[in-house]
Amino acid sequence: MSKILVIANWKCNPKSLIEAKRLFEAVGKNIENIKDIEVVVCPPFVYLSGIRKQASGVRLGAQNCFSEQKGAYTGEVSPAMLKNMGCEYVIVGHSERRQHFGETDEIVNLKTKAAPEGGLKPIVCIGEKMEERDQLKNILEGQLIKALKDLETRHLRKIIIAYEPVWAIGTGNFCSPEDAFSVNLMIRKFLTINYSKNISEEIKILYGGSVDSKNAALYIREAKMGGLLVGGASLNTSEFGKIISSIAAISN
Ligand code: PGA
Repeated sequence: MSKILVIANWKCNPKSLIEAKRLFEAVGKNIENIKDIEVVVCPPFVYLSGIRKQASGVRLGAQNCFSEQKGAYTGEVSPAMLKNMGCEYVIVGHSERRQHFGETDEIVNLKTKAAPEGGLKPIVCIGEKMEERDQLKNILEGQLIKALKDLETRHLRKIIIAYEPVWAIGTGNFCSPEDAFSVNLMIRKFLTINYSKNISEEIKILYGGSVDSKNAALYIREAKMGGLLVGGASLNTSEFGKIISSIAAISN
């Protein structure tokens, strides 16, 4: 069985490299002796080079990337650059990017295609807003169709899908494991119908949205998620440590 994936999304935190190094080091300590969980830290771009030197089994990811590998695009950071900086993963289409930076499904699609071309595994985020809950299936399938459009099969196998209900991100709102499980099944069915059973079984599906040490194991055990995308709680070293140990306790 493949490892449970726990992604720490630090967002626009912390304010200094010293703090970033301290946080990263603590994650390294938290995963000593942990075998069945792959932990990925996604810091702001500027800290990648500073923290990658700290020896530990923690993997690196980015929170965003551009849709081209190089060129005259002032201010952008490409998948190829991130790969060369030691990243293995990149978060694509996070709802905060859609909401605050105008990322459309078309942009998310370009980034989803560019990431594996640059050597990264894209973590493609989908999720409904509170007012869209009654059309959950349409919304999520629509996001998936657009995000994965024209993606080559060899690249499709590298993606990870993160289900993050927008109303649960950073709010403390609790998405029940039953609801998360039915979305998990819905995504698997979508992948089987549109691609193949093999692909549907290979692609990892994560849950994200107010994950903490009390609910983390529920999403793995009851919602059968392949991992978690953790925002706020990943900035608290003891809370993040508890999330990891709660999952380790059920995956042994
Ligand atoms: P949260 O963020 O855990 O703070 O809700 C999750 C995310 O934005 O990925």
